[in-house]
Amino acid sequence: MLYNIVTFGCQMNVHESEKIAGMLENLGYTQTNSKEDADIIVFNTCAIREGAEDRALGNIGNLKKMKRANPNKIIAVAGCMTQQKSVAEKLFKTFPFIDIVIGTHNLYDLPNLINKKLKEQKRSLENKVSGEIIENVPTVRTSGENAWVNIMYGCNNFCSYCIVPYVRGREMSRKKGDILNECKQIINSGKYKQITLLGQNVNSYIDPDNSEYNFANLLSDICKIDGNFNLTFMTSHPKDISDEVIDLISKENKILKELHLPVQSGSNKILKSMNRKYTREHYLDIVQKLKSKVPNIRLTTDIIVGFPGETEDDFDDTCSLIKEVKYDGIFAFMYSKRSGTVAEKMENQVPEDIKNYRVNKVLEIEKQIQNDKK
Ligand code: 5AD
Ligand code: SF4
Repeated sequence: MLYNIVTFGCQMNVHESEKIAGMLENLGYTQTNSKEDADIIVFNTCAIREGAEDRALGNIGNLKKMKRANPNKIIAVAGCMTQQKSVAEKLFKTFPFIDIVIGTHNLYDLPNLINKKLKEQKRSLENKVSGEIIENVPTVRTSGENAWVNIMYGCNNFCSYCIVPYVRGREMSRKKGDILNECKQIINSGKYKQITLLGQNVNSYIDPDNSEYNFANLLSDICKIDGNFNLTFMTSHPKDISDEVIDLISKENKILKELHLPVQSGSNKILKSMNRKYTREHYLDIVQKLKSKVPNIRLTTDIIVGFPGETEDDFDDTCSLIKEVKYDGIFAFMYSKRSGTVAEKMENQVPEDIKNYRVNKVLEIEKQIQNDKK
């Protein structure tokens, strides 16, 4: 029996697909790159922007013929799209060839739903929100010498454009002991040279058993594990990154001298309306501190252009901030309206052609910075 997983979106999804692979291999499936040959295809979807949803829908729609040719092929859709009630229901209704629609909170029930399909020929839609973290999920790691380790799930920040808090729920941190054990196993296996800690906002990590134990404590404890490995983490919200964490990046040999620090915009007006809870000046202070304590730090960021109300002047503020920081890499996105978010209802939505112009401008500036650095 063969499986094929198609992953959309962020590293969190890449890692969750590794867990899906682990569960499928436990059931006796083996990986194949061919959708035609696969007995089960799992789509792990992303909902962050409309484009990501459209790509997933297009890919899923293409399977109709394949399912007709082989009605025994199981088709499952997981990930952030399916955690939205209305989207999940629509998927289930409009694509009768989908056998399983499963939300991010229910992922670990996938083996049961597969058995239900195999034994009773029953389709399933399961996406109830749960407040529980499931440990010891079998994992097939697929990212070479890097091992992803999730330290927390969900997000409490409600940036006004973002759908993540709605689909992933509130922040839940894993117990420090579970995280340290997983890291020890990874290092002791001898297969990995790097650990990347994952969370929507890793800097707000708190051990559920000890409210005094924070992200800095976790980083130093992981660094104490014997062995030759590098440690890095994403994503850091600028409002939560502490001096302790900056000091650790500077002093701990195992921590890579790199940081992904999404700024989103350089305009204080837009940052406020995005509900980011920091100002341009505060962000630049953090960058200053980072650069002085870690001279060769590799800084990357995310930028959203065309957020509602973004004028030419606001966009100029973003461009000047980028030039000032001189990032080593930028992920630039055109604002995408997400249903249920605060920004969805905002006036002064920016036309697509302006968003397009601005996103290209950001990429141009970034290219220039890289050329100047050569
Ligand atoms: N539109 C465009 N970009 C978005 N992001 C999050 N939500 C949206 C949206 N509605 C971007 C942010 C975030 C990254 C993961 O995706 O820049 O940091
Ligand atoms: Fe979305 Fe903001 Fe949470 Fe990041 S911090 S996941 S952008 S709400």
